[in-house]
Amino acid sequence: VGVRVHVNCAITLDGCLGGGGRTQLRISNAEDLRRVHRLRARSDAILVGVGTVLADDPKLTVKWAMAGLRPGLPPLRVVLDPRLRTPPNALVLNGAAPTIVFVGAKARGRAGVRLERIPLRRRHFDLARLLDRLSDYGVRRLMVEGGQRTLTRFFAEDRVDEATIFVSPRVLGDPTAPRLSQGSLDLRRHLRLRRAQRVGDGALLMWTR
Ligand SMILES: NC(=O)c1ccc[n+]([C@@H]2O[C@H](COP(=O)([O-])OP(=O)(O)OC[C@H]3O[C@@H](n4cnc5c(N)ncnc54)[C@H](OP(=O)(O)O)[C@@H]3O)[C@@H](O)[C@H]2O)c1
Repeated sequence: VGVRVHVNCAITLDGCLGGGGRTQLRISNAEDLRRVHRLRARSDAILVGVGTVLADDPKLTVKWAMAGLRPGLPPLRVVLDPRLRTPPNALVLNGAAPTIVFVGAKARGRAGVRLERIPLRRRHFDLARLLDRLSDYGVRRLMVEGGQRTLTRFFAEDRVDEATIFVSPRVLGDPTAPRLSQGSLDLRRHLRLRRAQRVGDGALLMWTR
């Protein structure tokens, strides 16, 4: 597949992606957020799962000024949402950038939402097919931001070419909180650690194939 996949996420020192339940948690710091927005700006598309839409209601747009860039074309926003649970008023559906929602074959359509249908295999999209479809939209560089189930599948299907993981100094200590992976995961099976760097009060780990 001709789509390069870059996973970017922020985790607590105990490996959590966010608070359990409805608690929102800011894990990244200001310095790291600038990097995230620069990375978004260099991406053709930014992908999350519907769990993240429901938990955080992200805009998935580029904050050009924060990135220190002149405004350019916004990247495509992509949501993995087999049953179309994205609320009609979700910010990811605002007009700020184009959005595609990937749904299963049986999901009902809805006005104002651009849907792409991919059959589900044991409740999962075949990510190779998904990437093919995105490549038809001209996507060459895809940024995957999470959350847990989305990252789990991208690693399980070995579709990650690069990962940047920001590690914050906080231990969350919530056993119910979502993690980097649902099960065990050994990044060495997929990627090599290339750099580790201090970013403000946290650390950034950079992995590539
Ligand atoms: N710290 C960070 O960098 C970061 C970034 C993003 C999100 N988060 C956090 O992550 C948490 C959400 O995690 P999550 O696991 O609930 O959310 P998620 O990965 O965003 O969404 C999971 C849902 O998306 C659908 N999905 C994802 N991948 C799929 C695939 N390959 N095939 C079919 N469907 C797929 C499924 O929907 P159905 O359930 O409808 O089948 C799945 O349950 C939140 O706490 C959020 O704050 C943190």
